[in-house]
Amino acid sequence: MKAIIAREFAPLDKLEYGEWPEPEVKDHTVLIAAEAIGVNYPDGLLVQGLYQMKPPTPFVPGMEVAGIVHETGAKVKRFKVGDRVAALAMIGAYAEKVAVPESNVIPLPGGMAGSDACALMCTFGTAHHALKQRAQIKPGEVLCVLGAAGGTGIAAVQIGKTMGATVIAIASTPEKQSIAMDAGADHVAGYDDLRGTLKELTGGKGVDVAFDPVGGDAFDALTRSMAWNGRLLVIGFASGKIPQFPVNLALVKGYSVVGVFWGSFTAHEPAVFADNMKELMEWYAMGKVKPVIGGEYQLADAGKVLAQVLDRGAHGKLILKP
Ligand SMILES: NC(=O)c1ccc[n+]([C@@H]2O[C@H](COP(=O)([O-])OP(=O)(O)OC[C@H]3O[C@@H](n4cnc5c(N)ncnc54)[C@H](OP(=O)(O)O)[C@@H]3O)[C@@H](O)[C@H]2O)c1
Repeated sequence: MKAIIAREFAPLDKLEYGEWPEPEVKDHTVLIAAEAIGVNYPDGLLVQGLYQMKPPTPFVPGMEVAGIVHETGAKVKRFKVGDRVAALAMIGAYAEKVAVPESNVIPLPGGMAGSDACALMCTFGTAHHALKQRAQIKPGEVLCVLGAAGGTGIAAVQIGKTMGATVIAIASTPEKQSIAMDAGADHVAGYDDLRGTLKELTGGKGVDVAFDPVGGDAFDALTRSMAWNGRLLVIGFASGKIPQFPVNLALVKGYSVVGVFWGSFTAHEPAVFADNMKELMEWYAMGKVKPVIGGEYQLADAGKVLAQVLDRGAHGKLILKP
């Protein structure tokens, strides 16, 4: 089968599109023929050896897929050949077929686009887990989302609104700000004088919850813009700079800095993860969340697509098609 192959940890232009052995089907795995493959920022870090996890090389990257069940292991109970499904693979999804443990596979409701299903996994899954379990956000609270036209950012805007928050969306360009506004944000702004913007928009009170996939200087501004009992969610460092945190600020302002790691969450708390996916699917069916698909590309172009994501050139969710 055709796949994207990382022969070694290397720059994105070294990713190869070529032949790779079809995955072996084990007792509890489901072999899925891909219809849509989700592109995630961490995929671009993983293939360069810049991510927390370092799989043995060579490997096929890619963590999420939607498609048709091609074959099932002897002990698979919930799925049969021909079922339409989405799945979380961790790695191996940038390929025509991927084998996934049955526990990581969910059935797709009829009519749901494969690209939407992929978006609901890592990007919406991260924002949902962050706001629901980690921040325990309440209706009426003020949520600030950085990188608000990005994959996790748009999801945080939509989920924040669904959970009853007032959402301040921060994005770098007028185009990205308008995407965040279309996603339901109450206010949009750029990064210039972020501290002043948040002070003005909250009447000096600060934000109750901050969602930060960017890090760097923007994180520093957030550390000085939190309300009493606030929760500053550490999602990622798309700016390339992992910030340092002066802990006295948490003491003086009475707020928490809360780490979020969705991949680990799905492994540590599979039952809660399953409940979260069920809720996201329900919200999707009710039209409360609607992934924004920024583009669909050929699987062979994965390297260029990942470069676009890491270079700040994407909005919403990007999808690969085999
Ligand atoms: N903790 C978790 O479980 C988890 C899960 C998924 C992703 N992540 C991490 O979260 C981060 C964002 O993921 P994502 O899916 O939202 O990615 P994305 O779609 O690429 O969005 C990231 C946003 O960050 C902003 N940004 C600011 N400075 C940037 C820079 N120098 N280069 C690129 N982007 C920059 C961009 O918005 P503006 O141009 O508007 O600033 C961009 O839209 C990544 O670091 C990723 O690894 C963490």
